[in-house]
Amino acid sequence: MKMKDEQKHIQLNEEKWDKWAKTLDGQGWRYEFLRRAQQGVVSLLDLRGGIKILDIGCGTGWALKLAADLINNNGSFYGVDLSLKMIEKAEENFKGNGNFHFISANAESIPLEDNFFDIIICTNSFHHYLNPLKAMEEMKRLLRAGGKAYILDPTADSIFIKAIDKIIKWLEPEHVKMYSTEEFRKMFASAGLKYKRTEIVQPKQKVHIAEK
Ligand SMILES: C[S@@+](CC[C@H](N)C(=O)[O-])C[C@H]1O[C@@H](n2cnc3c(N)ncnc32)[C@H](O)[C@@H]1O
Repeated sequence: MKMKDEQKHIQLNEEKWDKWAKTLDGQGWRYEFLRRAQQGVVSLLDLRGGIKILDIGCGTGWALKLAADLINNNGSFYGVDLSLKMIEKAEENFKGNGNFHFISANAESIPLEDNFFDIIICTNSFHHYLNPLKAMEEMKRLLRAGGKAYILDPTADSIFIKAIDKIIKWLEPEHVKMYSTEEFRKMFASAGLKYKRTEIVQPKQKVHIAEK
């Protein structure tokens, strides 16, 4: 992929998600669908006081709030998103909460320190990444030894999701690709992460779990 194409891809994504930032916390089936999926991922996490957790493609920070509420805010909660408007909205949502940190960055290059996080989550965002392996390598770099990554994404194991993937690609130029479980497994291995298991959460979405 040429630099010009990469820049175009980023620009298209920023424009799209900046518009979504106004409505992501609102009502409507799309947003409720996303929140149920986030709830599903958070329900799988081994949360305890003092935990350090990062949400990549965090949107307005809803999943982090859910996790924080379960442990009385006792931890460090970080969110990264490509869209500046999403980050501004997240900062507004968590104003005055010193243990929440939001950063506008590409998932493929995150300005945070190595071996820091206990848990990384990524919900309904991974299929937008132009270089998904780079994003997984970032997850590996950022996780401490034994830390876990949870990626929830539409998974192209069925004809239905494969068809949806093709249709969206045709309709939306900024869409990249939905991966099969096998592709996730291989990508985790290439990034140096151990694939642990797949879980299915509401609303019937697959979560791919790997460990450093
Ligand atoms: C469908 S929204 C999901 C937001 C949230 N994770 C959720 O589950 O509701 C996809 C998010 O991924 C973000 N995103 C897309 N490409 C990205 C990239 N390369 N790096 C970081 N975030 C990205 C978008 O800005 C958007 O906030």
